[in-house]
Amino acid sequence: MAEFIPVDLFDIVIFGGTGDLSQRKLIPALWHRYQDDQIPEGSRIIGAARSEMDRDEFIAFAYDACKGSGEDEVPDPTAWKAFASMLEYIAIDATSADSNWDDLKKNLTDDGRPRVFYLATAPRLYVPMCEQLGANGLNTPTTRVVLEKPIGRNLETAQDINRGVGAIFEEHQIYRIDHYLGKETVQNLLVLRFANVLFEPLWSRNTVDHVQITVAESVGLEDRADYYDNSGALRDMVQNHLLQLLCLTAMEPPNSLDADDVRTEKIKVLKALRRFTPATAASDTVRAQYNEGVLGGKVVKGYVDELPEEKKSSRTETFVAIKTYIDNWRWQGVPFYLRTGKRMKDRRSEIVIRFKRIPHSIFDSNAGGSPNKLVVRLQPNEGVNLYMKVKEPGPGGLRIKSLPLNLSWAESFVLRYPDAYERLLMDVVRGNLALFMQREEVEKAWEWVDTLLAAWSEDDSPLESYPAGTDGPTNSAVMLAKDKRRWLDEAGSTSMK
Ligand code: BG6
Repeated sequence: MAEFIPVDLFDIVIFGGTGDLSQRKLIPALWHRYQDDQIPEGSRIIGAARSEMDRDEFIAFAYDACKGSGEDEVPDPTAWKAFASMLEYIAIDATSADSNWDDLKKNLTDDGRPRVFYLATAPRLYVPMCEQLGANGLNTPTTRVVLEKPIGRNLETAQDINRGVGAIFEEHQIYRIDHYLGKETVQNLLVLRFANVLFEPLWSRNTVDHVQITVAESVGLEDRADYYDNSGALRDMVQNHLLQLLCLTAMEPPNSLDADDVRTEKIKVLKALRRFTPATAASDTVRAQYNEGVLGGKVVKGYVDELPEEKKSSRTETFVAIKTYIDNWRWQGVPFYLRTGKRMKDRRSEIVIRFKRIPHSIFDSNAGGSPNKLVVRLQPNEGVNLYMKVKEPGPGGLRIKSLPLNLSWAESFVLRYPDAYERLLMDVVRGNLALFMQREEVEKAWEWVDTLLAAWSEDDSPLESYPAGTDGPTNSAVMLAKDKRRWLDEAGSTSMK
């Protein structure tokens, strides 16, 4: 059974409270934490947005958001009533000095409890909103602001946001969310590496041949055409989620789990990431857009067919594959291959550590197929597979096979998997910054991404494409084939020589 330690009473204001993130993630996350007795009654959950809506309408909105989000199809009426008593709604334009601030203030509790302002809005609103929070006396010692990704769309805009928000709030009050850090298996990566003695001696250029990080999605645009077409896979997924996974995989052991210790190690990795030149951008990256294809037995539209008329010539990438290096002592010469895309054949995120071949084989040279590899499956079917060589039973020759030591979370732990936002919201209330991004971390990630954006902007060759429902464009496989490697998907992994 999971053990949940209740947090103290708190107030949270969700700006963008009637938006998509609030509906899909934040309100259900708070509901689940309440159901597990982690949120004490008397806490306040205030939706804030520009739409005129009264409290009952907001409660109905929240009910619809929570319905079907957990094990019970419909929330238990008694529990829901108690949860709903914590909900409030304030119609406010939080970027304007003349808005409903008095109402908002009246609804906040003034007993020194943690007060969280969650900015689930477009990033361009972060600075004006923080300025209003400051001007209205809402920056108290227990105030925290939560910023959703993306923080900017390049280094310069990220710095503007960080500077503007930093002019009002201290760094320790700012929680920059990357929800991948709230995923159970992502945190497990830390435990796997630093709570087991087995891996550390092997975790370097001495024994690791290369690393692959894949975040494949089967979803397409999901009504986010405006945002996504301005962003693309590099900004939407690589700058944050994939780089966080890379940092946790590659960083040195931190001195402790303290936020600063962990973040310092991640920043060192980001600083050591090799910058792109136009030549390496051309040889070491692949970007592409999906065309019409078949996914789950259904024909799905191509990317531009989902866009409005004026955007039909969009060159936004929905897939990107990157080869990069970390120029430090531990990882010199070890390629890190990153790959992410929309409308791929299935939803699958995993990290593969592929070890080197044994230096000298006493067995038949063909024996046993591929070298050892460690596969950390982030989603779905969370778990870890360590592929080992074993002798196939039977007389007559010595046949070696590569088989997985399979650690499956679902088989080992019988519990509902909390959504990443559940963990992260409770961490904000507790004041635990370890799983949030520091200012410098976000900026260093952009510094590296900017070198690629700059190189791409000079390259007007036609964008590659891939049919929806596949593994991406052919050139993604070609990029690895040039290095005599291939993407090591779990299925069929034992067949590789
Ligand atoms: C978000 C991206 O940050 O992460 C989306 O903006 C993407 O485009 C999503 O679909 C993926 O998250 P998850 O948790 O479903 O892997």
